[in-house]
Amino acid sequence: MATVKSELIQNFTSEEAVQHNKISIVGAGSVGTACAISILLKGLSDELAIVDTNEGKLKGETMDLQHGSPLMKMPNIVSSKDYRVTANSNLVIITGGARQIKGETRLDLVQRNVSIFKVMIPSIIEHSPHCKMIIVTNPVDILTYVAWKLSAVPKNRVIGSGCNLDTARFRYFIGQKLGIHSESCHGLVLGEHGDSSVPVWSGVNIAGLRLKDLNSAIGTDKDPEQWEDVHKRVVSSGYEMLKMKGYTSWGVSQSVTDITESIVKNLRRVHPVSTLSKGLYGIKEEIFFSIPCILGENGVTDLIKLKLTPEEEARLRKSADTLWNIQKQIKL
Ligand SMILES: *[C@@H]1O[C@H](CO)[C@@H](O)[C@H](O)[C@H]1NC(C)=O
Ligand SMILES: *[C@@H]1O[C@H](CO)[C@@H](O)[C@H](O)[C@H]1NC(C)=O
Repeated sequence: MATVKSELIQNFTSEEAVQHNKISIVGAGSVGTACAISILLKGLSDELAIVDTNEGKLKGETMDLQHGSPLMKMPNIVSSKDYRVTANSNLVIITGGARQIKGETRLDLVQRNVSIFKVMIPSIIEHSPHCKMIIVTNPVDILTYVAWKLSAVPKNRVIGSGCNLDTARFRYFIGQKLGIHSESCHGLVLGEHGDSSVPVWSGVNIAGLRLKDLNSAIGTDKDPEQWEDVHKRVVSSGYEMLKMKGYTSWGVSQSVTDITESIVKNLRRVHPVSTLSKGLYGIKEEIFFSIPCILGENGVTDLIKLKLTPEEEARLRKSADTLWNIQKQIKL
């Protein structure tokens, strides 16, 4: 029977479609959906797949995103609770986990997200054996290690979003203090994404001028200007926002989109992201935390070897110990 479609379109190719740039997001919560919209608006993928166990929420969010297609050049958006929908992804972003229950210990909390990863990670790898993964779920450094162990893929392909966000916050607060746009304020926060993160004051600079050369006590207790407050705000602002709005989503999704762009466009930009750090800066255990990495089409392709002060290196080792003390107790 002649249909409108068959009258309108004549097939011109017998070739199979070539491999394309597919991105999948696991978790349709506030972080997953915020990642979806910013990746779509930046045009970073030509197919986007979303997975969540809550089918109603997933379908609703997917329809809402799809309906923007005529207005923006949005690619094919698909979703399912079945991981088959993620097949042949170039990159998989993992935001899903268990909501906190009151009265749980920190370790119980961690173990619940580990248990979820035990199901999630093998399903992802089964359908996209060559993908890179960005882990966003907290505690991100420990779960990036867990994802690496469970997936058994090369270490360069498992990346934790880690301190890419802490560093953005750090630069934002420095920019606010100086009245300079944060893009022109250079500096890094390394280590654990969270309380034990380490601000690298020795390297903070504007236009190549190190602030430490202007104030040798910067970032220490002896600093009359108390620049260390900038880092304190980096650590406390997550908790503050949780209190006020119940979750955070915009900052973290911008951070994840930034990492995504470096990978899918093979930009080879430097990001402080969570990677296997054993053997660096005197770290002896097999832990993941943030150090400056060059990101490209293979994920973490290279590391930057920083010249840290002895104090900064000691703080980084302490941050590693904090993570190891939790990590050594989890059951894989
Ligand atoms: C055209 O033919 C190819 C190969 O047989 C097929 O993969 C493709 O889906 C067809 N396209 C349309 C629009 O029917
Ligand atoms: C586990 O993951 C969920 C979802 O990302 C998050 O809300 C929760 O805080 C995580 N648990 C811990 C211990 O960080």
